[in-house]
Amino acid sequence: MKENKKDWILPDLKSAQKRTKNDIPIERLVFDLPDVVRDMGKARKYYLRTYGCQANERDAETIAGILEAMGYTMTTSTDNADFILLNTCAVRKNAEDKVFGEIGNLKHLKLTNPDLILGVCGCMPQEEEVVDTILKTYPHVDLIFGTHNIHRLPQLLYQVSMNKERTIEVFSKEGEVIENLPVSRFGTHKAWVNIMYGCDKFCTYCIVPYTRGKERSRLIEDIISEVEELKGRGFKEITLLGQNVNAYGKDLKEPANFALLLKSVAETKIERIRFTTSHPWDFSDAMIDIIASFENIMPYIHLPVQSGNTDVLKIMGRRYSIDEYKTLFVKLKERISDCAFSTDIIVGFPNETDEQFQQTLDIVDFCQFDNAFTFIYSPREGTPAAQMVDNVPKDVKKKRLAQLNAKVAQYALKNNKAYIGRMVEVLVDGPSKKNPEIYSGYTRTQKLVNFKADGVVSGDLVNVRITDCKTWFLIGEKA
Ligand code: SAH
Ligand code: SF4
Ligand code: F3S
Repeated sequence: MKENKKDWILPDLKSAQKRTKNDIPIERLVFDLPDVVRDMGKARKYYLRTYGCQANERDAETIAGILEAMGYTMTTSTDNADFILLNTCAVRKNAEDKVFGEIGNLKHLKLTNPDLILGVCGCMPQEEEVVDTILKTYPHVDLIFGTHNIHRLPQLLYQVSMNKERTIEVFSKEGEVIENLPVSRFGTHKAWVNIMYGCDKFCTYCIVPYTRGKERSRLIEDIISEVEELKGRGFKEITLLGQNVNAYGKDLKEPANFALLLKSVAETKIERIRFTTSHPWDFSDAMIDIIASFENIMPYIHLPVQSGNTDVLKIMGRRYSIDEYKTLFVKLKERISDCAFSTDIIVGFPNETDEQFQQTLDIVDFCQFDNAFTFIYSPREGTPAAQMVDNVPKDVKKKRLAQLNAKVAQYALKNNKAYIGRMVEVLVDGPSKKNPEIYSGYTRTQKLVNFKADGVVSGDLVNVRITDCKTWFLIGEKA
């Protein structure tokens, strides 16, 4: 591969941090590929592996859509791929280590197939450190692009494949909101729908505002027409996506907010609506009213608490006290009937004391979450928390995580047990791989159910009687 370093656009965390008041233009792209790239993928296969959150999974569907428009077909094996792309996550160090491990593992494939193109995209390339490491240590990576460059994939791939040029293009500032990119949906009855991109919360530990840019909302009409289109194609469930959906519409000229959007989406009458993530700050009463009043908005809320201690929350930049969190939680529980809750928790934030950690255990006792995603704090270069001196030893952090996980599991089991004997509505995902008589699917409250049935297909909504449970799933029989 040639290296034209002057053509490279490298990441710059400082400019990724800046926020301007400029309006974000909505670009209605007429996606038309130049002739030279239209057939580039003919008889070629791509392998795409995605790490990280739903935003990345949804991006993967756009990447797949673009590649398929270029004639590529998907493969699930790296051995017969002509283009391997790793769509990466930067949120914690262990997420990044996995990717570096995988890049290393893929090296040998280049020996048997010198034309193989290896690419890295997603959130990791937005970090200077990562691109430096790849340049120094992994010369077999041919293509690097960032989260704001997905629409440029045809041109970038042309440069690598036809011009044999190692290509790096990472915009550090978000551009427009781009509509009309092709999308290849991976699901048949459940779909992700972006409602906004980016994050402006800047929690002090978090890299996402740097990797995903400023908060930008899509227009209500674009979101609704996507939902209508999905409904028309037989999709039963959509999940509205944003790093903080409560902030939806704040950047738009026309008056728009998440409550209004949610109402309009509910009025499309699509069977099931979910949304993620809602920040505890800014969770309006209007939102609660809408969630409570529409049957097709699922009673399940992911409400990340992060810590049970107000001082820690303050240093994290979370903008709520633990009492405010509790008040909101109680209000949601009272107003939305039969609502399930999950959360995210970080242990071992710099200098977290035993007492502060104890308060994290206390909030789990108070809320009795149905599920919690728990993490050991991981310093991210460029974020304010990474500058803090940390006196909590690693083994203490590990012990705290284990203690927390045990408590989370205890409530997950307790909540599941309360389902035994109940009849629940399940959206069928499909038969189990091991036993074709057992199907799996999710309840309205986002609980996994494995159940006995025959004659059902994925996408069916069925009633299931719950007969038993484990910590992380329910067991039942179709009624
Ligand atoms: N926008 C979502 C979260 C996105 S990241 C929200 O604010 O709720 C998903 C989760 O990863 C976060 O909720 C947090 O618990 C965790 N996380 C983010 N940065 C982290 C870090 N540096 N170390 C450990 N966990 C982190
Ligand atoms: Fe990260 Fe906070 Fe934004 Fe969530 S709200 S993505 S935790 S900065
Ligand atoms: Fe990871 Fe990027 Fe999502 S850092 S959590 S893939 S926004």
